[in-house]
Amino acid sequence: MENRIVVITGAGQGLGLAFARRFAQAGAHVVIAELNPDTGRHAAESLRAEGFSAQFEPLDVRNPQQSAALVDRLAVQHGHIDVWVNNAGISRLAPAEQMPLSYWDDSIAVMLSGAFYCAQAVGRHMLARGAGVIVNIASVTGMAHHHDRAAYSVAKAGVIALTEALGIEWAGRGVRVVGVAPAVVLTEMVRATVAEGQGTLDVFERRTPMRRLGTPEEIAEAVFFLASDDASYITAETMRVDGGWIAYQLF
Ligand SMILES: NC(=O)c1ccc[n+]([C@@H]2O[C@H](COP(=O)([O-])OP(=O)(O)OC[C@H]3O[C@@H](n4cnc5c(N)ncnc54)[C@H](O)[C@@H]3O)[C@@H](O)[C@H]2O)c1
Repeated sequence: MENRIVVITGAGQGLGLAFARRFAQAGAHVVIAELNPDTGRHAAESLRAEGFSAQFEPLDVRNPQQSAALVDRLAVQHGHIDVWVNNAGISRLAPAEQMPLSYWDDSIAVMLSGAFYCAQAVGRHMLARGAGVIVNIASVTGMAHHHDRAAYSVAKAGVIALTEALGIEWAGRGVRVVGVAPAVVLTEMVRATVAEGQGTLDVFERRTPMRRLGTPEEIAEAVFFLASDDASYITAETMRVDGGWIAYQLF
């Protein structure tokens, strides 16, 4: 990863920041592409204070003009973009019959359309160079469903399909498209879910065969591997990093 340019959306906090740190530790220059300017700027400053190479770029993934402009800017500034991680996400949970339509629209806009807009913009750049990797952050919730999560589930199931669709379309042109599907990792998103009464850490732990939550570093390790040359024959694949969650039926 030495001197590779790695862009991570929604990397101001949580999993995205852990991914950024993992790539930076391996010598990459990381771009924190984040909606929230406070966390985005702070994340980049923290990484630089740790001796890493990082920059903050404002990005709302719902806006395709912004992702296209960011790709153009970074291509001029650095000459190449090697890895792009579609990580930005939101959690809007409610019973399906009562779900405000804004929950549905926002979930699809950020996690599915946003991932496609970014992939299209950076994919054009990577295809022209004949090299690059896009990593989409899905979820076990895109594979096995849970009440109150229709919008989130469908957005993440779409992300898994997007990884396959783009992966096969670009497979012969040097661009790999891969995904990671985590189970539960304690981030601000999960803290908010618990605070809303949408599950408890105890239940999440008991639902996991390993009987514990994942750590951001464990998810980052999988993202890093899939983005690296060690995964050169892997494309159109979403890897579960879930402590056995999906394989487990009895609860
Ligand atoms: N934490 C988990 O247990 C878990 C499990 C499976 C999948 N995921 C997925 O991992 C990803 C990261 O989740 P997290 O737990 O770190 O959540 P988080 O809420 O801590 O971080 C999400 C980040 O995305 C940013 N973001 C939101 N909307 C955006 C937009 N329109 N444009 C750019 N950035 C935007 C937020 O500002 C925030 O920094 C999400 O896609 C989430 O669905 C998380």
